[in-house]
Order: sequence, then structure tokens, then C-alpha cells
Amino acid sequence: MKLELARSAGFCYGVRRAVEMAEQAARSGCRCVMLGPVIHNGSVIERLKAQGVALAETPEQVPEGAAVIIRSHGEGRPVHQALAARGCRVIDATCPNVARIHHLVARAEAEGRQVLIIGMRAHPEVQAIAGWCGHPVVLEGAQELEQWLQEGPERKSLPLTMVSQTTSTQMIWDLSVEKAKKQCTNLKIFDTICNATYKRQSEAQALAARCGAMIVIGGRDSSNTKRLWELCAALCPDTVWIERAAELEPSNLCRKASIGITAGASTPGWIIKEVYDKMSDENFEIEESFAEMLEKSI
Ligand code: F3S
Repeated sequence: MKLELARSAGFCYGVRRAVEMAEQAARSGCRCVMLGPVIHNGSVIERLKAQGVALAETPEQVPEGAAVIIRSHGEGRPVHQALAARGCRVIDATCPNVARIHHLVARAEAEGRQVLIIGMRAHPEVQAIAGWCGHPVVLEGAQELEQWLQEGPERKSLPLTMVSQTTSTQMIWDLSVEKAKKQCTNLKIFDTICNATYKRQSEAQALAARCGAMIVIGGRDSSNTKRLWELCAALCPDTVWIERAAELEPSNLCRKASIGITAGASTPGWIIKEVYDKMSDENFEIEESFAEMLEKSI
């Protein structure tokens, strides 16, 4: 029974940066609040709360004058304005990749272009991007794009700027681009899918294709973990999704010759290590590269 960890498992650059900024704010002893959970991982949020970082869901809940941490998903312009009006000091942990999309859509709006966002309507990153332009259209994929174009044939000749949620899949984006290119005559396309997501997904798929079982570690409300789980389950029927090591039942896996492990971008290294420790205790043979990978993800 071999245990292998995906090279890219765990925190991505933007999430690591946001968590470090939140921890630094906590250490500074200032009154600080995170606006929405800094990342989609309950264990990390509980840890930050224990370090003194409070959680607010709306700008109105943030005490006036407090330091407020904007998470890696970013926030829209109205939220920044509301915080400024409350005299808050913003610690902006918006991932630079996401901030670039904010600039792109704000500029498109200033140029009078209609912004199309390919992404999940309910996702906070998409809502934040939408908050940097007046009337964006959010489409969840090529099918919705087709429908939107059919509902108003004049839309095909509008100046359109199309961006993607950073965590969208390449397939959703490519199909949308193909459709848009075929039908629209004044189109600017910015592939804003984050490379970290693509890398994580393709590595997880390669691992799932050669392993007898897969363990996907990540928060239940983490959409990138959900995507990882879907992609792995399509290639490896014995794929389990866990948040913490306690949910893992090693006896269910011990008949497999090889087991792959990956983790969402919001899964900290110490949770991956918990799983590693549990599997080591069960005498699973650990790939030599595992410890090295683990070291990188902590
Ligand atoms: Fe940023 Fe990419 Fe992570 S956009 S938050 S580095 S998945």
C-alpha cells in the first residue's frame, strides 16, 4: 500500500498570503476583524478566532475604526467604500490574481464595455468581481452564454469583455471562449483562471488515474475542494472527501495497492500532516517524496 501526496496539495500562494496577513494582524495586538472567513476552512478560522481575530459577515458588523482583513477572494467597490466610511483600516489580503481581475473589469466598464464573468454566481470571488463594474453579466458556462446571446441577438455586436473566476475549470472556460469567438464581433477575452488551480487539478487527476483510492482533504464549503473531489471521483471511484483526519477510516483503504492524497487550496499543511500521521500509524508505506511535499505545504 503506497501513499502518495500531490505536489500542489494544500495552500495556494494567495491563501497562504491571506492567512499570514491575518496572523500577523493578530500578533500586532490591534483590534482586528476578518470580513467573512479569510478562507473556507473551519479549522483555520477557529484558530484565527482563538488568536483574537473576530469574524464579521457585513461591513456594518465591523466596529468603527477597527482594522479589517479583506480575504483572498476580495470584495467589491461598495464594500471598500462602506469600510472607508466607518473609518476602518483595511488590511487587503485580496490575492493579486483576483485584484488583477478587479482592475480589468473596472477598466472595461470605464471604456463602456459590457463585462461577462464566467463563474459561479453565488461564489464570493465572483460577487466581488461584479462589485467592480456596474452591470456585469455572470454566466456559469457556455450553455448560459448561448442562452444570453439568443435572448438578445444585438448582444453579439456589443463591446464585450470576458473574464473568468480564478477557480473555474479550463473546460468551462474553453467552451465559453469557443462559443463567444464564434458569435461575438467585438470581444476582449482575458483568461484569468489561476494557474495554481489548473496545476492542482491536473496533478490530482493524474494521481487519481493511477491510484486505487484517493483522499481529498478540504472544507465542506470550499468550492475548489469540491471541484477536486469531482475530478478525482470521475477517474477513481474510491475517492473520499474529508475535512479532518478523524473522518478517515484507514481499514476501508488498506486493500488498495496505492492511495493518492490531494488537498484544496484552503487546506493548511497541519491538517494534511494529521492525515499523514494517521496513515503512518496504520503502517501504510509512504512514498519518499511525501515528506518533502508535506514540508512544502506546511
Ligand atoms: Fe490566488 Fe490562485 Fe489561490 S487566484 S487565491 S493563488 S487559487
